[in-house]
Amino acid sequence: MGKSWSKQEVTGILSSRDPRLLDELLEAADRCRRDSVGANVYLRGLIEFSNECRRNCFYCGIRKSNYSIRRYRLDNDEIITLAKSALDAGYSSLALQSGESEDSREINKVVQLIRSIKTQSRAWDNTGRGLGITLSIGELTFDQYKELWDAGAHRYLLRIEASDPRLFSRIHPPDQSFEKRLKCLDDLRTIGYQVGTGIMVGLPGQSVNNLVRDLQFFVEKDIDMLGMGPYIPHPNTPLYKKQVPDFEPFSMTLKIMALARLMMPDINIVCSTALLTLNPRGLELGLKAGANVVMPVMTPEDNRSDYSLYNNKHYTRPQELIERIRRYGYTVGLWTWGDSRHYAVRQVQ
Ligand code: 5AD
Repeated sequence: MGKSWSKQEVTGILSSRDPRLLDELLEAADRCRRDSVGANVYLRGLIEFSNECRRNCFYCGIRKSNYSIRRYRLDNDEIITLAKSALDAGYSSLALQSGESEDSREINKVVQLIRSIKTQSRAWDNTGRGLGITLSIGELTFDQYKELWDAGAHRYLLRIEASDPRLFSRIHPPDQSFEKRLKCLDDLRTIGYQVGTGIMVGLPGQSVNNLVRDLQFFVEKDIDMLGMGPYIPHPNTPLYKKQVPDFEPFSMTLKIMALARLMMPDINIVCSTALLTLNPRGLELGLKAGANVVMPVMTPEDNRSDYSLYNNKHYTRPQELIERIRRYGYTVGLWTWGDSRHYAVRQVQ
């Protein structure tokens, strides 16, 4: 457990525009991550395997009603080939992400995919452990989450996006309920997943107070992993021209990441692609703010531009990412799953 922070303290830090305070916060977060989870940065080979989506989130470029993108779904065989190349490169975990589907045939396909990746990857590497699998495929039923878990997935990312139910309902259509999202997070935890959540920073209508409460939400939910990024408006979405808050989303994201590291020293925090997109120093500063997970994009080049959650999504070649992580003074956790330490600790309690 990190030290407990008062609401006033957190509000003060998030409201401050003093660059020295940001520097100090990053220094503190970096020290904290080195003491608690070490200097290792773990990799998840990110495969955005489908951009088909039944949802119409007001901020997201792959929303159902965006007809200007080409929809795709990679074949399981193609995904397995990508998985092999991730393991060959030493990224011992995958993050499988897609738009949301409610079709049970699609979920079955994912179940089959996970089974194949698990069995085949155990044979590919000589540790016998094979690839670790993180899923990020949205809201499903308890039984579907359980099936995916039984097939071998063991981490799940489902961002709450905004922990204030009113803000949540302003960025989602009425068929998406805040309560359902909470239930999904609870179900995932009950089943035994390492559970990750997160928010977007800089959403229209978001206040500093919202962000203070988001941090409190992560602590209360006792999460294992955190994935957050700045909100980046997408032209083919209803939120595009909506007025955004007057804070600067890049440095605000860094502050929240750093505070999250200080409050929850042993969780995994990902350095999001959105952070890398907004600023060339995104990776360097995100790691400093306490991120210990990076997701090199392995989605085939032909499909990458159609997985456009937001505009001008950043892409760095995986090898370059690794070189940069090392240059910034961290080690790269190759050939290891890099699970959340917090999860291991709560399992023995
Ligand atoms: N800007 C930044 N992040 C976005 N996401 C979706 N749309 C955007 C956007 N316009 C994030 C959401 C989602 C994750 C997969 O991508 O937080 O959970």
